[in-house]
Amino acid sequence: MEVVILPGSRQVGVLAADAIEALLRRKPHAVLGLATGASPLPIYDELARRYVEGRIDFSQARGFGLDEYVGLEEGHPQSYREVIRREFADRVNIAAENVHSPDGAAADIPAACDAYEEAINTAGGVDLQLLGVGTDGHIGFNEPGSSLASRTRIKTLIEQTRRDNARFFKSVRDVPHHAITQGLGTILDARHVILVATGAQKAQSVRDLVEGPVAAICPASVLQLHPHVTTIVDEAAASSLRLADYYRHTYDNKPKWQGL
Ligand code: F6R
Repeated sequence: MEVVILPGSRQVGVLAADAIEALLRRKPHAVLGLATGASPLPIYDELARRYVEGRIDFSQARGFGLDEYVGLEEGHPQSYREVIRREFADRVNIAAENVHSPDGAAADIPAACDAYEEAINTAGGVDLQLLGVGTDGHIGFNEPGSSLASRTRIKTLIEQTRRDNARFFKSVRDVPHHAITQGLGTILDARHVILVATGAQKAQSVRDLVEGPVAAICPASVLQLHPHVTTIVDEAAASSLRLADYYRHTYDNKPKWQGL
């Protein structure tokens, strides 16, 4: 796993956007895996800026959301489908019909999860998956204890996640108890994974995922098994890493041709 430590969230967003721009130049019809939450917002801001400048073209790109709450009414501003539309899709030239999210309102949730896996496969798989990480080490909504081989399915949110996400709702009581999430096995199928984390509240999960044992107690640690993961963090989120100096040295001396 490559670990890149940058001064702040703006720089994190710029570097992740560089990788997406490079991918779309190489493969205009690339499939992007789209995360929500606060962490990827600087990436979406940067992509929107580059689109306005005419530097990046999403006209053939496809996108798949990572997860979705179960039980929010259609169009709820905090449904992840809406967040992706508002923060990303409406600000660039990706076709609305090419942006997919799990159906949190499906009458048959297991069938909707299977259909979502099928849709990702039919699209040719995810080329670049963006991820944030929870303070409990979750990726997507794969909470601690998730099967490391899991596929898209319903999960019950841990109270810590509901409390963390209460900032997006009127109160913690409004945060759903369930979500549909791509599984850890689904995420591992992406060709390249970029995980971004900023702020001191993420320092422990960043340390656990990068340097801890691979264990379901920190679901993000499964990324150690993936051949191409780039973890981009700010100084605060990197503050507990034991090998921080080595990661800095490696990145500073990286051959240019390697890219991300
Ligand atoms: C969002 C998602 C979550 C978040 C995580 C961190 O689609 O799947 O795993 O990435 O909860 O959230 P923030 O970035 O708000 O701290």
